Amino acid sequence: MHKGRALICFKTAMQHDKILILDFGSQVTQLIARRVREAHVYCEVHPCDVGSDWVREFAADGHLKGVILSGSHASVYEVEDRAPDAVFELGVPVLGICYGMQTMAMQLGGKVEGSHSREFGYAEVRAHGHTELLKDIQDFATPEGHGMLKVWMSHGDKVTELPPGFKVMASTPSCAIAGMADEARRFYAVQFHPEVTHTPQGAALLARYVLEICGARADWVMGHYVDEAVARIRAEVGDEEEVLLGLSGGVDSSVAAALIHRAIGDRLTCVFVDHGLLRLNEGDMVMDMIAGKLHARVIRVDASDLFLGQLAGVQDPEAKRKIIGGLFVDVFKAEAEKLKAAGGGHRGVTFLAQGTIYPDVIESGGAKSKKAVTIKSHHNVGGLPEQLGLKLLEPLRDLFKDEVRELGLALGLPREMVYRHPFPGPGLGVRILGEAKREYADLLRRADAIFTEELRNTVDPATGKSWYELTSQAFTVFLPVKSVGVMGDGRTYDYVVALRAVQTTDFMTADWAELPYALLKRVSGRIINEVRGINRVTYDVSSKPPATIEWE
Ligand code: XMP
Repeated sequence: MHKGRALICFKTAMQHDKILILDFGSQVTQLIARRVREAHVYCEVHPCDVGSDWVREFAADGHLKGVILSGSHASVYEVEDRAPDAVFELGVPVLGICYGMQTMAMQLGGKVEGSHSREFGYAEVRAHGHTELLKDIQDFATPEGHGMLKVWMSHGDKVTELPPGFKVMASTPSCAIAGMADEARRFYAVQFHPEVTHTPQGAALLARYVLEICGARADWVMGHYVDEAVARIRAEVGDEEEVLLGLSGGVDSSVAAALIHRAIGDRLTCVFVDHGLLRLNEGDMVMDMIAGKLHARVIRVDASDLFLGQLAGVQDPEAKRKIIGGLFVDVFKAEAEKLKAAGGGHRGVTFLAQGTIYPDVIESGGAKSKKAVTIKSHHNVGGLPEQLGLKLLEPLRDLFKDEVRELGLALGLPREMVYRHPFPGPGLGVRILGEAKREYADLLRRADAIFTEELRNTVDPATGKSWYELTSQAFTVFLPVKSVGVMGDGRTYDYVVALRAVQTTDFMTADWAELPYALLKRVSGRIINEVRGINRVTYDVSSKPPATIEWE
């Protein structure tokens, strides 16, 4: 498995210097990679158990400039994960983070002890030894002139004896060796987590490591990557073959469509399935963007009768999800079969393109030790390419979401589209509680459009950003219950909607957004006045956990 993956990645890495991040199973390993990429250095995350031969093969092209060993949810005494020995033999710099520091200490001849108390959260670390890694990087200085870093810690074990050749690089009152360095070999390690935003100087520390200590070239820039990605697609697809892409209107599939179209023009055909549960004017907007502006070939399939017909009488959220997911595959497959059969000017498609992005790739190939804590299964492994007898094309599989967005802008997609909030595959199907009827969907679409419009138009004076930008996801939920109201002189008995707006970085936990009352008042007033059939608006003040972001 590791070899196959490496080959795909080598294609990208060929022109770029690269950093190898070995994942020991920390929940925040991906953040290390994102910080490195933000420094414009290409990096890859691989499981810690790849083995020394794999590491040597990975380094064989001469572009490997450094290695980072991640943290872990486990103690070095609970699991046997160790860095492959080759990591310390390649002659490149190595940075250990948390568990990565402990395993480095153990493997190189130091000592690690389990501790009864875990150190978790904010800490202040004093820098020692004037190392290259921490030189001039500090949050403040003590009256005695010691440089201090504000950091985030999360560990039980700690290094109690330095390996030969190392010196202390950082300490806290409760952790005498909170950082260590062997500058002759360029091995560094920190007990704290520089990758999280709670460590304010963390990005500077990682940038110092990859750019100055590893000396990696900062050439990972999306504006330049377009040409490289286009060349890769052309090489993979060849001069004759055709590609089919399922367009959802989301960022990933739209950027993939724009990129593939740039590479092979009319040999790309997009299929856009409208299940009748899209937001207001969404179908037209997607068609305008991909067919109208990019002039890509798009087939729009109006399947709303089919979807809403099958959903009639179905109340259970999971049953609804299954029906929508299953029908989607059926409709898409039917279109694909037609195109495969080569009619209407097509030679017949041989590739299926998917908007798989790098976090999907990382999460579907975790280390052995990580299996117990797999966060989510990879949603793009649906077996569809195999069922259709098509080869898989995944042009975004090396990119994080932020990079996909930058690439989208570089390809000329509108900023408004590229920075849209995520929208679930089952669409309004999971935002209409219980049975998803067309009547409800029509009301919800109008209410939701008002909420979105007001969020986009209301700027927070403190940040200068709109409330749409300040929230991670915001939408309206349809509650199929009626309540009494009064309008003019008359009594109303109409439906209720709930507004939901959350702030989150990872969508695993989320806080409800403290939207200004004036904004909520405007939204509520407009919905009740403009959407006949809704006479009450509520605001959802539940955080995740224990609630989820969606209501179903
Ligand atoms: P929850 O509701 O689980 O949502 O807190 C977390 C994120 O996942 C999205 N979501 C989905 N996306 N199909 C999708 O493609 C689904 O069935 C689905 N359910 C939830 C949700 O919008 C949020 O961004």
